[in-house]
Amino acid sequence: MTVSLYDRLGGYDALAMFATQVVERAQKHDELARFWLNRNEDTNARDLQSLIDFLVNSTGGQMYYRGRDMALAHKGMGITSNDWKCFIGIVVGVAGEMGVGEAEGSEVMRFLDTLKDDIVSA
Ligand code: HEM
Repeated sequence: MTVSLYDRLGGYDALAMFATQVVERAQKHDELARFWLNRNEDTNARDLQSLIDFLVNSTGGQMYYRGRDMALAHKGMGITSNDWKCFIGIVVGVAGEMGVGEAEGSEVMRFLDTLKDDIVSA
């Protein structure tokens, strides 16, 4: 039986920790902080949960993702290729600190790459 990427990454708790760390760092990042200016805490908490649900769903965990698709969720934000590069840098940093293996890390990167054209619009 093939083991899902979800299980190989450590399941729900690992993905929740990963998403929390990535979002926390993005919100404090010099280039990326502008996307989260003046948003209230509850909105941020809901978006973080959406991200966790999306990641669980996309990696093969049991989760019904209720959020918008990536193009709609990021439409009009003006996310640039440089913003994307910064975001990926954060992802690589957090994955490294969490000890994500090489094979799983590449799988995550390949998956993120499939989302890039939907998210980057400027
Ligand atoms: C430079 C990269 C990115 C930036 C600056 C960014 C920023 C944001 C912001 C500000 C929101 C809140 C939208 C709103 O409700 O007003 C959001 C939503 C969201 N983002 Fe991103 N994002 C980025 C990349 C990604 C990536 C790579 C993923 C997936 C792995 C992702 C998944 C999501 C999800 C699931 C939501 C919530 C959608 C919903 O609940 O309907 N984002 N993003």
